[in-house]
Amino acid sequence: MGQDETADRSSYQRDGALSCHQNVLPEAAAEMLRARFLSAQWRDGTQEVPNHYAGGMRFESEELPAEDEIFSSAYGRNNKLESDREINALIWHYIVPMVSHETKKTFKTCMVRAYRLKEGQYFRAHRDHEAGEVSFVYYLSKNWRWDWGGLLVVIDGDSKVYLPKFNSMVVMDKTIPHVVTQVAPWAKEPRYMLAGFLK
Ligand SMILES: [Fe+2]
Repeated sequence: MGQDETADRSSYQRDGALSCHQNVLPEAAAEMLRARFLSAQWRDGTQEVPNHYAGGMRFESEELPAEDEIFSSAYGRNNKLESDREINALIWHYIVPMVSHETKKTFKTCMVRAYRLKEGQYFRAHRDHEAGEVSFVYYLSKNWRWDWGGLLVVIDGDSKVYLPKFNSMVVMDKTIPHVVTQVAPWAKEPRYMLAGFLK
């Protein structure tokens, strides 16, 4: 890919073990992806993992879930988008080189997840450390508001909160605990995101 072309369009701020990128994909590609997400058929589900916080996921912080709490999440997923060739090509053409450039790491595989979070859906605190070395979350909802919920809270020393802004992306190391807060009933659209776990 042209690193120069990407450097002209996008920008990022790195803060410790995570960073936030703006204008990740060319506008037309971001709009195409958004249209695919909006028209996709989503399968909603919930996940509960007792003992999640007792094993390798144990948090040292008293501000994160204790060992006797149960990890849970609720979300919609779409496998077709995850295995779509065009979407994977965009990831490998634009996103992976950006993450490699920034982290100085090379990656051979990317496990892709396409999510839609609607009212009440969320992810409790977790790390992505079993899924990859570095993960990214790329956002496709438009005009998100701070009080719509669905905020990414990253606990890295201090906590940082990210608004899921259209065509933006958060990149984080596998060790960092994070949460997605419940989407509020008044959110005007679901929270669409493409996540990738790189190894
Ligand atoms: Fe995660």
